[in-house]
Amino acid sequence: MIEELLPGGIMSSEAFDDSRPCALFPAEAALINGAVEKRRREFATARWCARDALIRLGYPLVPVVPGAKGAPVWPSGAVGSITHCAGYRAAAVARSCDITTLGIDAEPNKPLPAGILEVIAVEEELRWVTDFLRRDPSVRWDRLLFSAKESVYKAWFPLAPLRQPRLDFTQASITCDPAGGGLLARALVEGPQLRDGSELREFSGRWLVRRGLLMTAIAVAAST
Ligand SMILES: CC(C)(COP(=O)(O)OP(=O)(O)OC[C@H]1O[C@@H](n2cnc3c(N)ncnc32)[C@H](O)[C@@H]1OP(=O)(O)O)[C@@H](O)C(=O)NCCC(=O)NCCS
Repeated sequence: MIEELLPGGIMSSEAFDDSRPCALFPAEAALINGAVEKRRREFATARWCARDALIRLGYPLVPVVPGAKGAPVWPSGAVGSITHCAGYRAAAVARSCDITTLGIDAEPNKPLPAGILEVIAVEEELRWVTDFLRRDPSVRWDRLLFSAKESVYKAWFPLAPLRQPRLDFTQASITCDPAGGGLLARALVEGPQLRDGSELREFSGRWLVRRGLLMTAIAVAAST
């Protein structure tokens, strides 16, 4: 499913359960020794997905360990993103010459817990979420907004400008195309600087809802 959201040049892999046996590298295993079973399983299956996607990109089997603030460390020349939620795990990777950064996120297509929307949404987002929920309650637009913000954060983090190392929920505003599956995120603070010196303020992506899951992806092409 996730591949439907990703432009060319990105390899992805997904799993709907933890049945794939994934041998962990010692550096990976050390990180989850003592973690609860659920975390061990999602971590291992996400590594299976990451390796599967990396192999298809031409990389050998390598450990994928969290680095600064939990962001996965990809092999040299690769960028990527990982997500997991109940019943779903996925990884997406690309060569940095093709894709500058990317972020993926999956969530259950269920309402956000009470009070969360008001914390994560800016005014214009509250307006469209309320409107879309009224028109089509089969999609949990509040959760979709949350997921889009998580994808933006994951794409933002590896490029984060020194003055803006993390992006808070209300520091980006998302708009969403309810019919076409597109989304656009606009940073409300200084954006990362790209190699050509331009500032990255807008992130485009896609979303979909299927099988009780809702997912979003953001990708910034290297030519942007
Ligand atoms: C880090 C965060 C984005 C993870 O999202 P999540 O929905 O909780 O969990 P997911 O399962 O989808 O993603 C987990 C994966 O994200 C990746 N991740 C963690 N921290 C990350 C970071 N700083 N940057 C990029 N990716 C990160 C990891 O690969 C992790 O999987 P792993 O621990 O198995 O390696 C989230 O916990 C968070 O801190 N959000 C607050 C910041 C935010 O979203 N701001 C909104 C900006 S508009």
